[in-house]
Amino acid sequence: ENKTLPFEAIGEGTLHRLVDAFYHRVGMHPDLAPIFPDDLTETARKQKQFLTQYLGGPPLYTNEHGHPMLRARHLPFEITPVRATAWLACMAEAMDEVGLDGPVREDFYARLYLTAQHMINTPDDET
Ligand code: HEM
Repeated sequence: ENKTLPFEAIGEGTLHRLVDAFYHRVGMHPDLAPIFPDDLTETARKQKQFLTQYLGGPPLYTNEHGHPMLRARHLPFEITPVRATAWLACMAEAMDEVGLDGPVREDFYARLYLTAQHMINTPDDET
C-alpha cells in the first residue's frame, strides 16, 4: 500500500496560498476581524506550520511551539457558533480561490469542520 499524504497531495505552495487567501478574508470579515490581531502575518505563519502537520507533513508547529492544545489556545477568544461558521466559510472561499478541489479538498474540509466545532466555547447569545 502506498498512500499519499494529504500534505503531499495538496503541496506546500498551494497550502501557503490557501492560508494567505484565508486570512485575507478573516481580516475583512465583520464577525472574525474583531477577535484577530490587526497584523495577521504571525497568525498566518503559525497556521502554515500547524496545517502542514495536521495534513501529515513535518511537525513544524510542534517543533517551534510545543503541543498544539488547540482548544486551550482558543479559550482566550469567544468562539461562537456564528464565528465557527464564518471561519469555515472563509476557508471554503479560500479553497475555491486557490483551486483546491476533489476528494483531497472534501476530506480536508470535513476535518476542519469537526475541529472548528470543537473550538466553540461561547454561545451565540453571549456576544
Ligand atoms: C489562533 C480564532 C478555528 C488553528 C487563533 C486566534 C484566533 C482564532 C482569534 C489567535 C490569533 C493570534 O493571536 O494570532 C478562531 C476561530 C475559529 C478557529 C473564530 C472558529 C472555529 C480554528 C481551527 C483551527 C485553528 C479549526 C485548526 C484547524 C489555529 C492555530 C492558531 C489559531 C494553529 C495559532 C495558535 C498559536 O497562537 O500558536 N484562532 N480559530 N483555528 N488558530 Fe484558530
